[in-house]
Amino acid sequence: MKRIAVLTSGGDCSGMNATVRAVVRAGMASGLEVIGIQKGFQGLIDRHYETMSTRSVSNVLQRGGTFLQSARCKEMRTNEGLRLASDNLKGLGIEGLVVIGGDGSLKGAYAIHQHGVPVIGIPGSIDNDIPYTDVSLGVDTALNNIIRAVDNLKDTASSHDRAFVVEVMGRNCGYLTVVATIAAGAEYSLIPEEPYDLDQICSDLRRRYQEGRTNSIIMVAEGAGKAENIANQIKDRIGFETRVIVLGHYQRGGSPTVFDRLLGARFGQAAVENLMLNNTGKMVGIQGSSIILTDLATVTSAGIRPINPMFPRLANQLSV
Ligand code: F6P
Repeated sequence: MKRIAVLTSGGDCSGMNATVRAVVRAGMASGLEVIGIQKGFQGLIDRHYETMSTRSVSNVLQRGGTFLQSARCKEMRTNEGLRLASDNLKGLGIEGLVVIGGDGSLKGAYAIHQHGVPVIGIPGSIDNDIPYTDVSLGVDTALNNIIRAVDNLKDTASSHDRAFVVEVMGRNCGYLTVVATIAAGAEYSLIPEEPYDLDQICSDLRRRYQEGRTNSIIMVAEGAGKAENIANQIKDRIGFETRVIVLGHYQRGGSPTVFDRLLGARFGQAAVENLMLNNTGKMVGIQGSSIILTDLATVTSAGIRPINPMFPRLANQLSV
C-alpha cells in the first residue's frame, strides 16, 4: 500500500483535526503518502484534494471544527455520485480511505467500500448516537461546552428566581442532554428515549420555588421537543418567569478536550494500522479503554446507539 486518503464528513466536531493529524502522521511514519480530501464526500466527487505533509497538520490539534472542511453531500446517496466518488479515488491511485463522521457519513463510507475502495470509518459526532463505540469523537468537548453554558445560566437564573429551558442538540438521541443534566446539576432532562409528564414537572417546579429554591434548569433534547414550546407550556403554570436558551451550534465548536485529542490520536492511528493490514470495511470504536473494530455493515444497520438506562435514573435521583 502506497497512498491513502482521509476526509471529514457531515456535522463537524471537535477532535476531527486531531484525528486527521494522527492519520497523516501515522501514515507517513509507515511510509504512506496521505491525501487530504476537502469538504467531505463532496470534495471526493469534485476532486478537491491535496497531498498532506507533516506541516499540513501542524497547529491543528488544538482547533475545533475541521480544517479539511466538511459537507452534507446529497449526491453520495445516488448511484451516480457513489460511482463518481469511487472512480475518482481509484483514478488517484488511492488504496485506502479513512472517513471521519456521523451515521450518514459511515453509511457513505460503507457504500464506497462496497464499490471496491477499502475503507475504515471513524465515529465523529457530538450526538453520541453511533453504535459499537462507547463514545464518538467530539462528545466530550460538546458536553464540556454545555455544562459551561448551564453553569453560567444558573448564576443569572438564581439572581431572578427564574426557570430556564435549555435546548440541547443530539438529533434523535438524548445522550448529551441526560449526561449534561447530571454533570451540570440541572433539574429535568427531557429526552426522546423516555416519556415525560409536564404536569408532574410543573407541580415539582412550584414546590421547589415554595421551598425557597432560586432557580430551575430544564434540559430538553432537540429530539424531545422545542424549548420554546415547553417554556410556553410551563410558564403560566408555575407562576415564575421562564427564559429559553437554544444552545445550537455553540455546542459543536471549541478547542477539543484532552479526551477528544487522545481519542482522535488513537482512532487515527488504528485506522491506518488496519488499512495496512487490509482489515477494512470496519469502524474503529472504543470499548472501556480498548480500541475495537466492527463491520461497517453491522454498524450502519444497527440504528441509534441506545442510552444506558442508568443515566436517566441517576439524573432523576439527583435532581430532588
Ligand atoms: O449531528 C450533529 C448535529 O449537530 C445534530 O446534533 C444537529 O441536529 C445537526 O447536526 C445540525 O445540523 P447542521 O449543522 O446541518 O445544522
